[in-house]
Amino acid sequence: MGCFTFRSGGGSKSQHPRSGARTPAAKSAPASSSSSSPSSSGGVHSKTKASAASTPTRTIQELSEERGAQRLRVFDLDELGSATNGFSRALKLGEGGFGSVYRAFFRSASGARVVLAVKRLNQRSLQGHKQWLAEVQFLGVLEHPNLVKLIGYCAVDSEASKHRLLVYEFMPNKSLDDHLFNRAHPPLSWRQRLQIMIGAARGLDYLHEGVPEVQVIYRDFKASNILLDAEFKPKLSDFGLAREGPTEGKTHVSTAVVGTHGYAAPDYIETGHLTAKSDVWSFGVVLYEILTGRRSLERSRPAEEQKLLGWVRQHPPDSAGFRAIMDPRLGGRYPLAAAREVARLADRCLGKNPKERPSMRDVVEELERVLQMEPPPPLAADKKKGGDGRLPTKR
Ligand SMILES: Nc1ncnc2c1ncn2[C@@H]1O[C@H](COP(=O)(O)OP(=O)(O)OP(=O)(O)O)[C@@H](O)[C@H]1O
Ligand SMILES: [Mg+2]
Repeated sequence: MGCFTFRSGGGSKSQHPRSGARTPAAKSAPASSSSSSPSSSGGVHSKTKASAASTPTRTIQELSEERGAQRLRVFDLDELGSATNGFSRALKLGEGGFGSVYRAFFRSASGARVVLAVKRLNQRSLQGHKQWLAEVQFLGVLEHPNLVKLIGYCAVDSEASKHRLLVYEFMPNKSLDDHLFNRAHPPLSWRQRLQIMIGAARGLDYLHEGVPEVQVIYRDFKASNILLDAEFKPKLSDFGLAREGPTEGKTHVSTAVVGTHGYAAPDYIETGHLTAKSDVWSFGVVLYEILTGRRSLERSRPAEEQKLLGWVRQHPPDSAGFRAIMDPRLGGRYPLAAAREVARLADRCLGKNPKERPSMRDVVEELERVLQMEPPPPLAADKKKGGDGRLPTKR
């Protein structure tokens, strides 16, 4: 499912004028890289900054120049070509709206084999460079156990073509989207689902409140951007659409509306006013996807069930019929009271008025409380198996 622009929204405000500022790539990338790339913060940011001169907030671009350049490795295009066997289809892990991702093999200094993931942005996409730059700038600065780690990047401009690549830690368990919606994977247990909710919430909370100098709005929270590590710990990936939050004294950032249908907050779609509470809405959508095992939009369903939020509204958390929305692949193995609590929390995240939505800090606390709730008594069959909480594929 690709990202796209809903509408042009902020007109000229949505353009990202060339700032002339140096990017991390310009600092250390090969000489063939672009040396005057547009700033990802663009006109909107400089406007707010000018009117809030006393604010201590730094720009992501400044932070990236200070920290990202040291943290990130610059890769050679040939090195990435051989690590992916010439971007072989056999090593392709997936494809998104902006490019393809490949498994890549490297050697460490000691000669050990290292597996990483390489994303090659579509050469024809006009958005490509902007997404790439945002990713390099944000992930060069941000560091948290629930964010995917960017190892480095590659930017090469030749007369014939333009190459933009990103190198990440490899996430062996694909995305939450795969595990919720692709029947090839065994269903996630209730506990795994709750732990994924908590980890993803911590990642968003870090973006919103965890970096002292800057607030980050993620803008593309959805199941396919939540990658899972070997222990099914979730990590947010894809910072190509991330934006800096409003500077002091401002309530929102005005921006063109981008994101993915089914996940973007209606107030953001209507006004183009972006706040951290736009991410909170998207989080509420994903909570319901995790509870129900259904995508936010499923055109193959009967009309009244196609839009997930419309359908779950017919079975509110306190109603007798609430169980009807729960993922049948859970096989009834979840504590009902805890599931109702998660649905109540999702409803608060999906509040019409953004100001009334909880902060991600509140969400994390609430989910941690739910985790403490009494687990269901294990079924006899589980006891015999010594069950690890993982559900069988078929029942
Ligand atoms: N670091 C990684 N390690 C392992 N697999 C990855 C990694 N990053 C991405 N992938 C795989 O590549 C797929 C495509 O990722 P990508 O972010 O390009 O697209 P998407 O999230 O599906 O869609 P969108 O472009 O809308 O974000 C992911 O679903 C995932 O399976
Ligand atoms: Mg993605």
